[in-house]
Amino acid sequence: MSTDAKNSRISGFHKDDIPTRLARVAAFAGLDDETVQHLANMGNLDPQLADRLIENVVATLNVPIGIATNMKVDGEDVLVPMATEESSVVAAVCNAARQCYDQGGFTTSMSGSLMIAQVQLVDVPDAAHARMRILEHKAEVKALCDDCDPLLVKLGGGLQDVEVRIVDAAGGPMVVTHLIVDTRDAMGANAVNSMAEKLAPHIESWTGGRVYLRILSNLADRRLARARAVWTCDAIGGASVRDGIISAYRFAAADPYRAATHNKGIMNGVSAVVLATGNDTRAVEAGAHAYAARKGWYSSLTDWEVTAEGHLAGTLEMPMAVGLVGGATKLHPTARACLKILGVSTAERLARLIAAVGLAQNFSALKALATTGIQKGHMSLHAQNIAMMAGAVGDEIEPVAKALVAQGAVRVDVAEAELARLRGQG
Ligand code: MEV
Repeated sequence: MSTDAKNSRISGFHKDDIPTRLARVAAFAGLDDETVQHLANMGNLDPQLADRLIENVVATLNVPIGIATNMKVDGEDVLVPMATEESSVVAAVCNAARQCYDQGGFTTSMSGSLMIAQVQLVDVPDAAHARMRILEHKAEVKALCDDCDPLLVKLGGGLQDVEVRIVDAAGGPMVVTHLIVDTRDAMGANAVNSMAEKLAPHIESWTGGRVYLRILSNLADRRLARARAVWTCDAIGGASVRDGIISAYRFAAADPYRAATHNKGIMNGVSAVVLATGNDTRAVEAGAHAYAARKGWYSSLTDWEVTAEGHLAGTLEMPMAVGLVGGATKLHPTARACLKILGVSTAERLARLIAAVGLAQNFSALKALATTGIQKGHMSLHAQNIAMMAGAVGDEIEPVAKALVAQGAVRVDVAEAELARLRGQG
């Protein structure tokens, strides 16, 4: 057995400063100086702030922010910052938005800003009675919950309703209380989690049962963002393109294997704006996929139809738990700048813009898939990435990438050969 086995039990790591942590990681992983120097450059995020946002910070990861142009949402033109590492995602939104701009762009709405927290109660033999006993305390529940966040109440938020469900689980029924809370411009996780935790002992005393989990549900189906838009056949290249998009949608609506990819495309757009604005991408993604499966099978988040005039009409409806206050949204200077670019002053407007981006993204993906295929659009940027992977720098990248596309072989080995040829010419 090796005597110098690596040991991940690094004591006091969380108390170290960032350079010390990085040095310890470098020693552990055998990083060379160049890599360490690269990681030590924290870009435009203040190391002190980074160190407060998460634990054990050693570096940051820069992701490009691209701007989606051509977007008109609810009659207002808007530039949308999108943070993504994937090529074609920003272009897809720009193209979709351009093709429906003359029809008025996107129209959006929102079901409200209600989040749900769940309190799980077990060990109750009389679940139906327990349910009633909790519901009888609604006024007390409201007082306890609202007391957790007086500022939220002042802003018009707070507990709106209480629902109690009996969930048939392995081992017997669970009595699950849902706190339905208007979190206004906050994403609301902290607010509703505090309420659930505060309420737990009271639920135990009212019912004689035992509370385990007290946590929000990411299936934010009381916080649905909606977007719709119309694309004329003229704008998109004819009725056959329209019909191809409809057929692609029907495929996703009928088949979960396709729906997963279809919805992944929607999330390419959605998550990019969620990330750019410092919101919680995982919360929105979890909500999206749970909502896509709400009928008992996993299906498309969008709907595509033909209007009476023969145009293509798309709609998207999905949970959109995003906020403007709290966490990285407020603290991260890049997120703040992105919110400024968007010009949003409410979480609702942000959520609605994101829904429009999701619909735009889906339009472009379906259009590409139903016509030329997805690779053509992907290839020029992808080829540049491959050229760089093969070692191309500066002026070399473009000609190598072009050669790869021309040969229809966007591969690192081909790029290496092209690069050698180019350098041999020089
Ligand atoms: C790729 O990131 C996204 C697509 O696969 C979406 C789709 O298939 O609808 C192109």
